[in-house]
Amino acid sequence: MIETPRNTVPVPALSEDLAFLDITTEWDLSASYHQWKPSIVVPAPFRPSPEQVRYVITVANQKGGVGKTLTAFELALSLVARGLRVRLIDADPQVASLTLWLPVIYPEGLSEDQRFSLRDVYYDKCTLAEATYPTRYQGLYLVPSFPNLDQVQNERPTGYETCLRWHLRECDDDFDVTIIDSGPSLGALTVSALVAAHDVVVPVQAASGLDVEGAASLYETINTVTTRMNRDLRVAAIFLTDFEKSKLARTIGGEMAKAFPDALIVPSRTCVKIGEAQLEKKALREFAPEATTVLDYDRGAGILIGRAGL
Ligand SMILES: Nc1ncnc2c1ncn2[C@@H]1O[C@H](COP(=O)(O)OP(=O)(O)OP(=O)(O)O)[C@@H](O)[C@H]1O
Ligand SMILES: [Mg+2]
Repeated sequence: MIETPRNTVPVPALSEDLAFLDITTEWDLSASYHQWKPSIVVPAPFRPSPEQVRYVITVANQKGGVGKTLTAFELALSLVARGLRVRLIDADPQVASLTLWLPVIYPEGLSEDQRFSLRDVYYDKCTLAEATYPTRYQGLYLVPSFPNLDQVQNERPTGYETCLRWHLRECDDDFDVTIIDSGPSLGALTVSALVAAHDVVVPVQAASGLDVEGAASLYETINTVTTRMNRDLRVAAIFLTDFEKSKLARTIGGEMAKAFPDALIVPSRTCVKIGEAQLEKKALREFAPEATTVLDYDRGAGILIGRAGL
């Protein structure tokens, strides 16, 4: 892995007097809708990740366009802003993936065929550390992916299920947190990302009633992975993306809390600037640090690692 070059920028800290959501242990769904205020649910059984663990989070939902990449990126930056070293892994073979939004900085003089990506990790062409490159943000690194990652999905190389977990354990670099952004499928790549993780974070669109049903098949996959391959895996948080106060959003949040009673429920409020930020190849946290969406991810990330007040 290459050290951070000088041309990286610090992650902006957020002002303390911004419009953070309140925190509650459950939403009162019997309250009249007009009196009800959206808040972050931290259920009583929820426990943050232990600090000594090199924490691995997989962001997953087989539905496309629900905010997985945004969630992975913004959570990562919130953790970097708290002083942690964070590695993102782009486990999505689509062209329009995290690698496009957050280009890596290759060392000078490295020819194209010397550049590693996640595919090379699955085929044992390099270690995870060798495929980890700095990005424009100090303290944030990325394992990039290209459409040829599809080969893993189609060929399912021997041992693919445990490949990422093995590489993460073998890696002697000093990342505090690794966040894996998966693609819109429950195929080989997502399964191996779930096997590698301590926690799953699930973004669900707050404005789509269909997403609640879609969450059921994710639930089954997570259950299978938990039973057979990763007993300690848990669903740590549901992010309700594109969230605006509405009866539907409240109902979806309530349904998700029923399905995942130990998980955080975090509204990720709507923001119109996400597309512009992507075009500029900047995180929302840098492009629009005052956006309420950024605050929601900041608060959610803090609760996940037990540092909500920082
Ligand atoms: N909080 C939000 N407010 C407004 N729009 C949002 C929000 N969250 C996500 N979106 C919209 O959803 C789009 C898709 O987000 P993103 O690329 O993160 O989804 P994805 O689940 O990673 O998609 P894919 O499955 O294709 O990888 C964004 O470009 C944005 O327009
Ligand atoms: Mg994505």
